Amino acid sequence: MSTLQFPLRETGPRPLPGQRARTLRIGLLGAGKVGQAFLELCRRERDYFLSRGLQLDPVAALVRDASLPRRGLPPRALLTSDPLRFLAVRCDVVVEALGGLEPARSLVAYCLKAGIPVVTANKSLLADHGSELAGLARQAATELRVEAAALAGVPFIATLQERPLAGRFRLLQGILNGTCNFLITELQRGETLPQALAEAQRLGLAEPDPANDIDGQDGAEKLALLCQHLVGRRIEVTGLEKRTLRDLSPLDLEAARDLGGVLRPLVWARLLEDSVEAFTGPAFLPSSHLLSAVGGVDNGLLLEPHCESVSTPDGSGRLFYRGAGAGPKVTAATLLDDLWQAVHSSSAGRLGHASSRQPRETVLRPPRTPWFVRIERQDSCADAGLDDVLALLADHGIHCRGSVEKAQYLWILTSTASKPHIEEACQALAEAASAACLPLRALEVTHV
Ligand code: HSE
Repeated sequence: MSTLQFPLRETGPRPLPGQRARTLRIGLLGAGKVGQAFLELCRRERDYFLSRGLQLDPVAALVRDASLPRRGLPPRALLTSDPLRFLAVRCDVVVEALGGLEPARSLVAYCLKAGIPVVTANKSLLADHGSELAGLARQAATELRVEAAALAGVPFIATLQERPLAGRFRLLQGILNGTCNFLITELQRGETLPQALAEAQRLGLAEPDPANDIDGQDGAEKLALLCQHLVGRRIEVTGLEKRTLRDLSPLDLEAARDLGGVLRPLVWARLLEDSVEAFTGPAFLPSSHLLSAVGGVDNGLLLEPHCESVSTPDGSGRLFYRGAGAGPKVTAATLLDDLWQAVHSSSAGRLGHASSRQPRETVLRPPRTPWFVRIERQDSCADAGLDDVLALLADHGIHCRGSVEKAQYLWILTSTASKPHIEEACQALAEAASAACLPLRALEVTHV
């Protein structure tokens, strides 16, 4: 029997023979690393998009300093630091790569109100004003595309926004910051944190102020925008538990390995009826956890659907995304794909996306989890041995699931405890044994 063969179909209109491609006038807000990578990509892929019926035409760029050269900007395009001159240029679509809240918020709002589709990679903007901007897009029946704002190289947000069952997660576990994952991977390879950070900056992975990566702000903003855009829950980034990466040492990474796991920069959130339990920061993952294998600049996202029709007890309903999470090139590629979708889809706001509903304000609570605790004993108190430490923890109702000892350091993997509870035990250790403790979150094997 012969096999039926269907011709491969590519999405989007293609010009018919003899038909002219549609010219797309693109306005660019910001032409820093990401903006220039976007312009370069438009230039490089010009013929490909032309063959698909679209002539990419960057016509204007708004920058903070118009005296600097901008790679990839066509010579006839306007380069200005004056927002009014920028807005006076007729654009069919605007790409926002300014970052930060203002003037990005005002300019994006202005464009959406004028019915101009906007694509953006700006997680700070979306975490704080995503629902307001989605509302403006909906009112003007235009598009706000945000795919590049989280897991920059992995397209998933638009798909899940349109899928009420698959997109409604109850547990989210992710490595959402490429810089932090890169830093941990480099620490494992023997680099120091300043060396690794300098490399992350050279590669264009880190935020303009890398404290936003290292101290957890970036991961928290991405969590906030995912909660808002996928499940219509609004969480306050300032209220989220964040743990910095600065305190980590290579010894912690070795100890984690000896305890059968790894440390990863984690974002974790469980949706409850009346609240969201969540944290961000370096955390211990057992090596059987899917995210434990996600290293370098890659991001990963593991979603457990809320709906029992989708999820099964063995976890087969889980979604796992993995791919490049940061860097000008991947971000630019996702922006350009978003731009393509923005001009080819019907309006995003119409179909009742989570982001198009008024998001529900949600109380944040710290979850109860196991902990990976580093205990540094003073030389003079080296007699505070493992047994003494375990006895003191047991007095606080905290039990040991594994331990590693090296010189004056001890690492303990504990039973499940609340944050105040573990902090109280660490305080008691500090008083009884002059020990300095660093409690990091840990995930259970059952959270694979
Ligand atoms: N600084 C961010 C990161 C860039 O490292 O993940 C991508 O959002």
